[in-house]
Amino acid sequence: EVTREFTRNLPKAELHVHIEGTLEPELKLKLAKKNNIEIGQKTIAEVEESLKYDDLASFLAVYYPAMNVLIEEDDFYELAMAYLKKAAQNNVRHAEIFFDPQAHTSRGIAFSTVITGLLRATVDARALNIDACLIMCFLRDLSRESARQTLLEALPYKDKFVGVGLDSDEHNNPPLKFFNQFCTAQEHGLHVTAHADVDQVNSLAHIRELLEVIGVERIDHGTNIVEDPDLVDFAAKNKIGLTSCPLSNDFIAADMKGKEVLELLEKGVKISIHSDDPAYFGGYIGDNYYALAQKYDLTKEQVVALAKNSFEASWISQKQKAFYL
Ligand code: HPA
Ligand code: ZN
Repeated sequence: EVTREFTRNLPKAELHVHIEGTLEPELKLKLAKKNNIEIGQKTIAEVEESLKYDDLASFLAVYYPAMNVLIEEDDFYELAMAYLKKAAQNNVRHAEIFFDPQAHTSRGIAFSTVITGLLRATVDARALNIDACLIMCFLRDLSRESARQTLLEALPYKDKFVGVGLDSDEHNNPPLKFFNQFCTAQEHGLHVTAHADVDQVNSLAHIRELLEVIGVERIDHGTNIVEDPDLVDFAAKNKIGLTSCPLSNDFIAADMKGKEVLELLEKGVKISIHSDDPAYFGGYIGDNYYALAQKYDLTKEQVVALAKNSFEASWISQKQKAFYL
């Protein structure tokens, strides 16, 4: 039987967590006060009351304004350190953490402030036995020009993050909009992943662009791939990682997508379980494993297979992988 302790204690890699999505109500209020930011909420209960959404757009409408409280380098450090402590409690050994520079530079916060604060936390995480690194995401609802500028600004720091990703509102924002940025990133030796959120318009076409044209190594969410057996076959043969987030899916699509996860696991796809935005979707990575295991009656072997996939799909070296597999 799969217990909460079992899911929490299992060694895992976290490959799909947005650092801004780990901003808990308590820290949000604390930073709002320190930085004198009016957020329209004064108590934890009032912040929690604001957490109302049932699809991607309504979620993002709550999510982005909350970030206004993040101003100083230390704020980014404190945010990331709080997350990494939670990750350590969940026996996360390796974390590849998304950050959204444009959500901050668009408010006048310097790119260097964001990345320096986050990076300092990843260094201090070694004391927690976590090996952590960063993935820079482009906001797909902003312009190509904004993504181009962001990549230009980021390249001097290219040894400070391991890859690039693509997030925010997928509607009418196909991956190929950012073809040039993905190419440039790959030329600079960066890894590439991108979101294909659950049940979006043209989801399958977006997944096909990611695999056939851009050549991503992972797809974040991406479980709609089950609708195309040829793509599933391609993903299995080429060890494409799919990072599924059950509690997030339950909010965004009213479905944890457990049926799809099990089908893909069965077909040999490197699918694994992650937390997306834990402060917004009701739980950290162990909670995501446990919710899925409970709802779909997973065996211990299936849960272990998902956790092993998280290391296989990670961007650690083959030698490091051998340690966990
Ligand atoms: N999808 C797209 N963008 C996001 C998400 C997500 O699930 N979480 C944070 N930014
Ligand atoms: Zn995500």
